[in-house]
Amino acid sequence: MSDTPHPPLVESCEELFLEHGDNYLGQGWTKSQANTDRRRDVMLDLMKGRTGPVTLLDFGCGTGQLLEYMRALHIDDVEYTGLDVSDLFIRVAREKFPDVQFHLGDLLAGELELPMFDYIVMNGLFTYRGPVAFDEMSAHWQRLVTAAMTHARIGVAFNVTSPYVDWERDDLFHVPMQLLADFVAASPCPYFRLRHDYELFETTVHAFREPTPARRTEPS
Ligand SMILES: C[S@@+](CC[C@H](N)C(=O)[O-])C[C@H]1O[C@@H](n2cnc3c(N)ncnc32)[C@H](O)[C@@H]1O
Repeated sequence: MSDTPHPPLVESCEELFLEHGDNYLGQGWTKSQANTDRRRDVMLDLMKGRTGPVTLLDFGCGTGQLLEYMRALHIDDVEYTGLDVSDLFIRVAREKFPDVQFHLGDLLAGELELPMFDYIVMNGLFTYRGPVAFDEMSAHWQRLVTAAMTHARIGVAFNVTSPYVDWERDDLFHVPMQLLADFVAASPCPYFRLRHDYELFETTVHAFREPTPARRTEPS
């Protein structure tokens, strides 16, 4: 491990998996499968407007539930690859999908030789911070997203917990919009949209390397 913020998240996800099994609760999500699917839809919207087959890296893939979801939706123009730092999750994912590539390791520790992907999604890596101080989590989040961006040809999506709540929790990573926008605007993928239009008390960022094309050139 390269720095401290990983272990609390990884350990708590693995504990939840051992308690609940391979379902949304076992990947650290709460409330319902419908909420979890909604969150995944917002992530997948990163690739909306694609005009042909694309490659996708699911960074922090857990047991590969996003791939199950994509297959259920018959999304077959996206070539999926997973990556996680948890040995347990990658073992489960490889058993479920023996024909799919899953990388195991910590990008920041230089443990991975990753190729380029068209798109990268990072779902649930920055919503929880456990006992890690806000500034430390903030530095980690920015380092990891920046490192991931260097492997994205087109764009990256990630989510954080919303600051617009009346119940802010010490163990969640509530990121002010200005901090979020300032970071992304100075990143390798500086063209971005902020999704805060769904009911899950979080913000999803879609960040692109180049400006998105004019609407009239996109398929409807
Ligand atoms: C809340 S779970 C979400 C799993 C999956 N993305 C989903 O939505 O079902 C967070 C995942 O991120 C992984 N993770 C945390 N830090 C990571 C890192 N630095 N590199 C790769 N994976 C990481 C954890 O092991 C865990 O599988």
